[in-house]
Amino acid sequence: MCGIIAYIGKRLCRNIVLEGLSRLEYRGYDSAGFVCIDNNHKHLSFHKEAGGIAPVQRLSEAVKFDGYAGMGHTRWATHGIVDQRNAHPHFNCKKSIAVVHNGIVESYEELRQELIHRGHVFSSTTDTEVVAHLLSDLIDHHSDLKSALLDLTKHIRGAYAFIFLVEQYPETLIVVRHRSPMVVGLGDGENFVASDFIAFSDKTNKVVFLPDDSIALLSKDALELYSFEGKALPYSPQQIDQTYSDIDKDGFEHFMLKEIYEQKRAINRTIAFCKVIGSYNDEVGNPSSDITLQPHPATEYNDSVWRQIGLTKDKVKNLRYINIISAGTSWHASRIAQFFFEHLCGIPTRVYLASEFRYMPFFTEPNSIYIMVSQSGETADTLEALRLINSLEQHTIAITNVASSTMVREASGFLPMQAGPEISVASTKAFSTQVATMYWLANRMALERGTITAEQMHTSEEDLFIAAEILEASIEIYKFKIMQELAPRYARYDRFIFLGRHVSYPFAMEAALKLKEISYIFAQCYPAGELKHGPIALIDEKTPAVLFSVLDELIYRKLVSNAQSVKARKGHLIVFAFEGQHELIDIADCAFILPRVAPLLAPLAMAGLMQFFVYHITRQLGLPIDKPRNLAKSVTVE
Ligand code: F6R
Repeated sequence: MCGIIAYIGKRLCRNIVLEGLSRLEYRGYDSAGFVCIDNNHKHLSFHKEAGGIAPVQRLSEAVKFDGYAGMGHTRWATHGIVDQRNAHPHFNCKKSIAVVHNGIVESYEELRQELIHRGHVFSSTTDTEVVAHLLSDLIDHHSDLKSALLDLTKHIRGAYAFIFLVEQYPETLIVVRHRSPMVVGLGDGENFVASDFIAFSDKTNKVVFLPDDSIALLSKDALELYSFEGKALPYSPQQIDQTYSDIDKDGFEHFMLKEIYEQKRAINRTIAFCKVIGSYNDEVGNPSSDITLQPHPATEYNDSVWRQIGLTKDKVKNLRYINIISAGTSWHASRIAQFFFEHLCGIPTRVYLASEFRYMPFFTEPNSIYIMVSQSGETADTLEALRLINSLEQHTIAITNVASSTMVREASGFLPMQAGPEISVASTKAFSTQVATMYWLANRMALERGTITAEQMHTSEEDLFIAAEILEASIEIYKFKIMQELAPRYARYDRFIFLGRHVSYPFAMEAALKLKEISYIFAQCYPAGELKHGPIALIDEKTPAVLFSVLDELIYRKLVSNAQSVKARKGHLIVFAFEGQHELIDIADCAFILPRVAPLLAPLAMAGLMQFFVYHITRQLGLPIDKPRNLAKSVTVE
């Protein structure tokens, strides 16, 4: 996954492209490049920067040339190591065609061999470069550009969004899209195209999401759109009212810290939104319009939420299976939500890793739904699973944070979380709002199915507000202790074990993921009951065990036994426990004690403190918290 932005129009493009690129760094930051039709000599001029912490920043300082048509790319490496040669743009032999690419060209090896055989010389080891060489041959062999592009699509397997600048066609940006998202922004005497609207959101809010399998020819005044069969495609621009203005650190040292602190408000907004979802009518279901929806009070529960997610009351009552598909942190939130749907609604719920789901046998069952959970709504594994399920005509629901995302557009219904833009690569507020959204949804389904009363539903909503309150308040309680004493102490360890049971097991997995992804400290997670089946061999004084408690009395007792078995082996024990859980607190080497919440919401209440702890351990190590090595925010490749 990579970030792409291009501009053509009445203004010089360098600053527009480079600024857009800095907003796209969440999609990858291994290297960055800029290319334009140089205003001085009318040929392609380019510059690339690779590696280090801030390639886009270095690119901005280095580029001195400019032009009226140009494009930029920020890379997350898939094929070819991170170095300057492999940074985009890539070129044909004569350097008369430049391409930037998001996605993977699966057929690149065979194409490369063929092109080498035909005399082409390659400058990089990427999959992308083959496309520039191939297009150059096809332009030579076809009488017009459109036929060359249609032919190009026949040779390429994989998922891709390409933008080409061709010296021979200086007035045109050429876009070819298959599976990877691309959005065109229409301005006045200028047009934009990018892998995310946010790249040009301050320049225009009139957008066209390019349909899958389409070719766009973009000049400063016009957009022509074609299918891969060559048919002209109609389009109608939409308006998006989202800006980049709230994507600011607001005085915090890192986005991650800001986002940890934003959780209480984000959860409250999410519940308020869910509570009033019934008040919306015609606009519901239109992905672009809901971005500006503001919650307003409603007291009755009506059917609109079912319309929003494409179901009816009867379908909810007759549901037999719920399937949830997601990746990474979203998968952990989904695993927690499994307990909600099963305990509250009594519906068997299965949770799949998107990357595995697509390659497993698929059994269609009547009265089933498939919920895709994704912060970005663009994760390739989850998106491809959604497409597979759609092709089998099953009901899909997207729960995402980005209402203009591909998943929202392609699912049968959607429920937006109200986290607001999440910039830090490590997910925090997206996780907690996913958990809150699914807790609310499970309760609402339970109400419809008669397994809880309206009064219990109200209590559950209150419980969510209380959990959000505790999430933030617990940070305040332990803030100085963590910063001054605990983070410096625990940053010295080079491995941890995380343990949980029942609802706290997927939460422990999330905690382990947070620690490893930002601090690079090795963290292994186990269900605490599994310790005795092998992993207990790892317990020693050099490997702290971090155990997350639960509020179910029976399971709590089992956890206490697990904790005792850690201590009996001289293990170092850190616990996240609740008030009154003395058996656990008393044997721990370090205990965080939180007020009690509704039992299923224990992970939500603990989320802020866990993230804050991990954040400060990493800060001690002086690592780039918002942009950990090898990662990117939106994983749009498989
Ligand atoms: C970890 C993290 C990732 C994402 C995963 C799925 O902090 O953010 O594990 O959760 O890449 O992304 P989404 O939720 O956008 O589908």
